[in-house]
Amino acid sequence: MLLGGALGLLAHAWLQEQRAFPFIEASWSKTGLAILVTGAPSALSPWWLPGGRHARAGVSRPHRPWPWAISTEDRWMLLQAVNVSRSFGRDEILRDICLDLAPGESLAITGPSGSGKSTLLSLLGLLLEPTSGEVLFEGKTTRALSDDQQSRLRNRSFGFIFQNPQLIGSLSVLHNVLVPARLARKRGLEAEARRLLTTLGLSHRLQHLPHQLSIGQKRRVAVARALLLEPVVVFADEPTNDLDAERAGQLGELLYQLPGQGRALVLVTHDRGLVGRADHTVDLSGVRA
Ligand SMILES: Nc1ncnc2c1ncn2[C@@H]1O[C@H](COP(=O)(O)OP(=O)(O)OP(=O)(O)O)[C@@H](O)[C@H]1O
Ligand SMILES: [Mg+2]
Repeated sequence: MLLGGALGLLAHAWLQEQRAFPFIEASWSKTGLAILVTGAPSALSPWWLPGGRHARAGVSRPHRPWPWAISTEDRWMLLQAVNVSRSFGRDEILRDICLDLAPGESLAITGPSGSGKSTLLSLLGLLLEPTSGEVLFEGKTTRALSDDQQSRLRNRSFGFIFQNPQLIGSLSVLHNVLVPARLARKRGLEAEARRLLTTLGLSHRLQHLPHQLSIGQKRRVAVARALLLEPVVVFADEPTNDLDAERAGQLGELLYQLPGQGRALVLVTHDRGLVGRADHTVDLSGVRA
């Protein structure tokens, strides 16, 4: 029994150590309970508790955590929402959202139009402040970060594919994709930008301006821009909208390579194929009256 206890302590200490090296955990992080969405006041509350006008749980528990003896609380988390609520004026959009996302995991957010999907994505991506609750990145609160610190974190660690592609009208396709590199003062990424654009079927549009592109092409430029700096979390808001089935399939493949690389993917989508592949889902249906 003594030996068992000592081994348990060693395993725990080892796990604590791993928090400093997030990608070491990527190989097993995919296995655990990673998300709790609840209207209850704590992430530890049962997800099935009823509670009025709040997120209905869309919880998936794919596998048991490994190693079996270690609780999911010991797992290193990339992104966490702790009782996150958001109102616009008197209009409460989201209440007490709790979720944990580990490296190598994917999360699909679903729900009808106006249910708060983009709002939740913006909250998780630190583009919007919660009215209450907080978002943690790599286990640390983001509440105390200044605007500059938040911007740097977003630029360094997050990639965004917005619902509206938001390209800079005066820049070519290639230079739009290179914008994050400019902001991060990173050079030598033109070849990578060209490679991504080629993968996305845009090698013949590198010098075009955004107004010379179709909406689906703009969306693909936004995807290349989001992936350029190899962010640890990619947020994608309805990325396959405006794409034909073949292009949507290719984009789905590209996005779902990210968790395999130890990164996290947060998707807003109505595409059943994409939802079905996610490790976890949050369904915001029924949240709003
Ligand atoms: N800045 C804002 N000011 C006031 N209300 C807002 C603001 N942003 C969003 N809302 C409201 O919040 C609700 C949720 O909006 P959100 O964009 O998150 O919905 P969604 O689920 O992404 O919808 P869609 O599928 O149509 O994109 C909507 O009723 C919207 O009017
Ligand atoms: Mg939206």
